[in-house]
Amino acid sequence: MMGQLENKVAVITGGGTGIGRETALLFAKEGAKVVVTDINEQAAATTGEDIGELSGGQDTALHIKHDVSKEEDWVTVVDESVRTFGKIDVLFNNAGIYIIKPLVETTLEDWNRLMSINVTGVFLGMKHVIPVMAQHGGGSVINASSVAGLRGVQGHVLYGASKGAVRIMTKDVAVEYAKQNVRVNSIHPGYINTGMAELGAQAARTTTEELGKKYPLGRLGETKDVAQLVLFLASDNSSYMTGQEFVIDGGATARA
Ligand SMILES: NC(=O)c1ccc[n+]([C@@H]2O[C@H](COP(=O)([O-])OP(=O)(O)OC[C@H]3O[C@@H](n4cnc5c(N)ncnc54)[C@H](O)[C@@H]3O)[C@@H](O)[C@H]2O)c1
Repeated sequence: MMGQLENKVAVITGGGTGIGRETALLFAKEGAKVVVTDINEQAAATTGEDIGELSGGQDTALHIKHDVSKEEDWVTVVDESVRTFGKIDVLFNNAGIYIIKPLVETTLEDWNRLMSINVTGVFLGMKHVIPVMAQHGGGSVINASSVAGLRGVQGHVLYGASKGAVRIMTKDVAVEYAKQNVRVNSIHPGYINTGMAELGAQAARTTTEELGKKYPLGRLGETKDVAQLVLFLASDNSSYMTGQEFVIDGGATARA
């Protein structure tokens, strides 16, 4: 059976752990060639090797040490991806960090660091990859936002600002590149069972399990849940969707 991403080349940032790693493995199962990038080189390499095993050792994955906040790193990622696989069809701007602090405890250093990764990283990714997609007939970009980019959350002035920026940048670029057949969408997860949800549980002085019980579906999301949404947005099954925001939160934001 044909995979949903057969003949596609995908770049996934922050692919060493969590949602990025799960998505990289699913993309490979669905036939994509995957470029796994992460600031944690060892983690990126492990995901790359696991993909190699999945696909019987064929050359289906490339891993690159990459700091998404650095423009020169993006130039390297685009050059190496095109040199190895010939094109880029899918970009998952997934890398991100999480800081929860009250307004007055949030330092300017916190602000600049988080913004440089969560916002500048997404901007640079779109700026450097989309022209390559456009040259090859189009593509699909998926930007990681959050439910914290849709509404106010205690202690989230910085993280929420970054994810709100990702939400609207997505729409701006979707409009700008629609004629070149490049689609750009954002995803908005509630807490997903990774290190990030652990941080959230700690800040709320509870456990991830207890946090999950408060969600309408009675559990936190799993990385597999999110990977399926990203797969849909990456594939041609979503060919008429662009500039949109996709919430995946177990029903949390539906409740008053
Ligand atoms: N887990 C959640 O509850 C949740 C909810 C909403 C949104 N998100 C978003 O989903 C994305 C992935 O989250 P996750 O839970 O998988 O996180 P994670 O911490 O498990 O993984 C993030 C990965 O990004 C990498 N990374 C960090 N800084 C980087 C940089 N400067 N350059 C390149 N890579 C870098 C890390 O090394 C790590 O491998 C993030 O953008 C996050 O904000 C997560």
